[in-house]
Amino acid sequence: MRHRTQVAIIGAGPAGMFLAHMLRADGIDALVIERRDRAYVEGRVRAGVLEQGTVALMRRLGLSDRLEREGLVHGGTNLSVDGDVFRIDMAALTDGATVTVYGQQEVMRDLFGAAEARGVPIVWDAEDVALDGLDGDHPGVTWRREGVAHRLDCDFVVGCDGYHGVSRGAIPADVLRTFERVYPFGWLGGLADVPPACHELIYANHERGFALASMRSPTRSRYYIQCALDEDVADWSDDRFWDELCLRLGRDTAATVTRGTLFEKSIAPLRSFVAEPMRWGRLFLAGDAAHIVPPTGAKGMNLAVSDVTMLGAALAEHYRDHSDAGIDHYSARALARAWKAERFSWWFTSITHRFPTMDAFDRRIQVAELDYLRGSTAAQRALAENYVGLPLEAA
Ligand code: APR
Ligand code: PHB
Repeated sequence: MRHRTQVAIIGAGPAGMFLAHMLRADGIDALVIERRDRAYVEGRVRAGVLEQGTVALMRRLGLSDRLEREGLVHGGTNLSVDGDVFRIDMAALTDGATVTVYGQQEVMRDLFGAAEARGVPIVWDAEDVALDGLDGDHPGVTWRREGVAHRLDCDFVVGCDGYHGVSRGAIPADVLRTFERVYPFGWLGGLADVPPACHELIYANHERGFALASMRSPTRSRYYIQCALDEDVADWSDDRFWDELCLRLGRDTAATVTRGTLFEKSIAPLRSFVAEPMRWGRLFLAGDAAHIVPPTGAKGMNLAVSDVTMLGAALAEHYRDHSDAGIDHYSARALARAWKAERFSWWFTSITHRFPTMDAFDRRIQVAELDYLRGSTAAQRALAENYVGLPLEAA
């Protein structure tokens, strides 16, 4: 079967779906081609902290009704060193900027619900997705679905297919450069239907390793503890998880932790990764297809959103104003912002985690860095402005 659209979007994660809605709002035709089914994509438990730019985009797209009702607005966040907690008043240190706690699963539900209502087309269960003609004027995407071969002719292809997708690999090896850090530990995460320990997040550096107290709602908590990469989830009973978490959060916070049955217990590796360039011919990359950050700064989804905010505007300029200035600058602009998020996520990871190679000197330096943060408004402001999200113009 042969199809035609203006913009082919590979992948129905946050990058692909936000872009699809932006293009729809600008009257540009797009088709989203996704390898999995909706239940799978919607069911994946991911982070849950939205920068103000992400919230603004949801508002602009008319997708924010539930977010306004259910999102938890946080003006501050907490750090803890061996159980000693201090707060960073992000709103006071910036111009009143906040973040909103609202799970990525909820964002996906809103994006898919509105896509259905607005007739934004998505092909689910597409097998053997392949791209061609990206360096010419007639790019295309092919796939198979229920035994039928499909071909889509388009003007542009946007690779929003995540780290394991096909799009990045379509850039010739002599053009593509990649940069990577793999961290020697993972995060063991657990969800529980219990009230959160604290009404804001706590990022805890402890001698035994990192821990994070987060949440999804006033009745659902999300906790993480740093663990070895070869650890088996089966070895982590609920009791062992709660005991270790409480130890790392320290006695005062532990007293406010409500224990309960943990579900969605899983281990995620931590990685920093960037692919350059983010445009080749008529292919653009956005989101995890181009870059991965460790989850410590909660930047993954927000970075995908800032990519597609820039790309959506650039494509609108192309179709509406017949100007390719935005398209031509996309890669450099998106990479400039992505590298700043990479830097922040790497730095925040490096000051909060226990590295296997750390000696007593390294540990003292970490503690000094956190102590400096506790005492310095300048240092806190630098953390705050990155955590709430650098403005797009800063790129
Ligand atoms: N063909 C079509 N779709 C594909 C292919 C393929 N070959 N490979 C992967 N996909 C789909 C995946 O099934 C997934 O739904 O692309 C989507 C990519 O979504 P994400 O991995 O969520 O990536 P992105 O949209 O860039 O989101 C970035 O959100 O999910 C988090 O951890 C992610 O924080 C990051 C942010
Ligand atoms: C989460 O709630 O899942 C979460 C919050 C903050 C992070 C990472 C994950 O930095």
